[in-house]
Amino acid sequence: MSSSKATLEKIVSLCKRRGFVYQSGEIYSGLNGVYDFGPLGALLKHNIKNKWLTCMMSFAEEVVLVDGSLLGSADVWKASGHLDNFSDPMVDCLQCKKRYRADDVDLEKNCPHCGNKNWTSVRQFNLMFKTELGAMADATSVAYLRPETAQAIFINFKNVMSSYRVKVPFGIAQIGKAFRNEITPKQFLFRMREFEQMEMEFFCKGEDADRFFELWVERRKQFFMQLGLTPERIRLRPHASDELAHYSKACIDVEYDFPFGWKELEGIANRADFDLTQHGKHAGKDLGVFDDATKSSYVPHVVECSVGVDRLFLTLLFDAYDEDEVDGETRTVLRLHPAIAPFTAAIMPLSSKISEQAEKIFLHLKTKGYRVQFDDGGSIGKRYRRQDEIGTPVCFTYDFDSETDGKVTVRNRDTMQQERVAIDGIEDYLKNLLAKN
Ligand code: GAP
Repeated sequence: MSSSKATLEKIVSLCKRRGFVYQSGEIYSGLNGVYDFGPLGALLKHNIKNKWLTCMMSFAEEVVLVDGSLLGSADVWKASGHLDNFSDPMVDCLQCKKRYRADDVDLEKNCPHCGNKNWTSVRQFNLMFKTELGAMADATSVAYLRPETAQAIFINFKNVMSSYRVKVPFGIAQIGKAFRNEITPKQFLFRMREFEQMEMEFFCKGEDADRFFELWVERRKQFFMQLGLTPERIRLRPHASDELAHYSKACIDVEYDFPFGWKELEGIANRADFDLTQHGKHAGKDLGVFDDATKSSYVPHVVECSVGVDRLFLTLLFDAYDEDEVDGETRTVLRLHPAIAPFTAAIMPLSSKISEQAEKIFLHLKTKGYRVQFDDGGSIGKRYRRQDEIGTPVCFTYDFDSETDGKVTVRNRDTMQQERVAIDGIEDYLKNLLAKN
């Protein structure tokens, strides 16, 4: 399905050329580690989020959705441990003033930038963006942009339980922005300063946490398979005890084999009762749940599934990118899953003389909610290449025979095979395509 022809440079170039991703503030000098998504990128992102949420809500256990604020008071981040622990080790080269994450460079060796060996000592750098609310700057006005979406879920746990009829075990999901002042943002969308996360915190009794942890690991692996990622490029890596985050009892990373090595795509963690206990303590509130069976209160444990939208976006592009040879020329193709591809189909008139009829089909499908693009510029071959490059699974061409046989030619992106289908059958054709796993 996929190839190893994708390089970071090719993906960055394709993203810019075809309107997936732009450097933020490019017309000035750009903002490092911050990106804007163009028309195709925004659609692809939307489809990824849609698929994640649909999957999260498809299981027997209830998962509800919330949308928390981006700003959080210092109290929240003190309780969560981020104020004290959310930092990376940082080191500077005293010669050229370049700054690095200390674990990204070998301090026994010379600075990779200037070639000198003159390091500062290693200091901890907190990754949260600090700001002030209101016109008066004092200790109470301090707020932070959230470095993860999870905390908005924990601090609303009791609100959700009391306002919405849910019972433990259940999950709270959220999709939204997170901000980290990464010392060295790199590898395009892999490590950004402003990014989006899809997180689900699953609340259960302590004795059930190990079982749910295993269940969610399996479900998350299945999710990536359903997106069409190459199975050999996905692996599960349990964390060693000395690399566990301050809050977690067990953690398994879903890793992907990127061109720059095996890296984390998603983290699945058994956070035990750390979060609700911490917030309960710091806020002076009882975040326990009453158990009707035992007539006693307990603090639920949490299994977390956390994946970056942008990192998954990049993973899907790497995995889908392929090059093959057609008529002596290199064809670039994104073999994206139909449910993820920005457009499901392109509608093309063979000639401008029959454009109106093709446009009618296009408008019909569009108004029915299908993501279709009308493409009438250039030769058919050129149009196919254009659609291949943005991952459109099929193209329907209205030609002169269509006038009499009521059929169009459908051409498949992956096989490049063509067949005739009835114009009346296009909707069913697309439905089947979207339903495919
Ligand atoms: N609530 C747990 C948490 O935030 P994390 O491992 O720090 O855990 C979860 O982040 C996921 O968010 C990662 O697996 C990755 O997909 C994404 N992510 C984290 N930092 C990122 C960054 N700087 N840029 C892009 N995605 C990032």
